[in-house]
Amino acid sequence: MAIYTLPELPYDYTALEPVIDPQIVELHHDKHHAAYVKGANDTLEQLEEARDKGSWGSINGLEKNLAFHLSGHILHSIYWHNMTGDGGGEPLAADGVGELGDAIAESFGSFAGFRAQLTKAAATTQGSGWGVLAYEPVSGRLIVEQIYDHQGNVGQGSVPILVFDAWEHAFYLQYKNQKVDFIEAMWNVVNWQDVAKRYTAAKERVGTLLLAP
Ligand SMILES: [Fe+2]
Repeated sequence: MAIYTLPELPYDYTALEPVIDPQIVELHHDKHHAAYVKGANDTLEQLEEARDKGSWGSINGLEKNLAFHLSGHILHSIYWHNMTGDGGGEPLAADGVGELGDAIAESFGSFAGFRAQLTKAAATTQGSGWGVLAYEPVSGRLIVEQIYDHQGNVGQGSVPILVFDAWEHAFYLQYKNQKVDFIEAMWNVVNWQDVAKRYTAAKERVGTLLLAP
């Protein structure tokens, strides 16, 4: 039985034009994201089989596959909602997202400093990866992470709230080798309302990670 399912896009394929071409949105969601969902489900099945048989020869590969596909599914699910055709700008109090704007300023010194750091982290990924704004529950601060593939280079316990996909499948059909141009354009479709909801939920539901009970 499938544990994970491909979520529907919250808009149609053309909604993010001209920042992201409809063909990219379609392939990215219907093929790439779908493959991570299938990969996560298949790996769980293979792990069940391994438990049933007591056959652990492939355990390292299976655990790696689970982290890869599950993280791919989670990050893409957040990615689609992080974007809107009416997005962009900064998180401002006038738009009801001032708490997020304040947290960014407190954690990074300024919005400009944060934007520069996330842009750089995403644009300089070596191979495939992501630039991520995450709530870090030990300090309660926001941090930027540069993720390798979908699952590497992660601070344990951190909760992603704004994710920039820097894999070539996210931009190559439209931007060719100009990854920096794609990441810069991404700022024009950021859905700050969605990011703010994720920030509030992370603070309220995850709160502070207890290191020493
Ligand atoms: Fe992707």
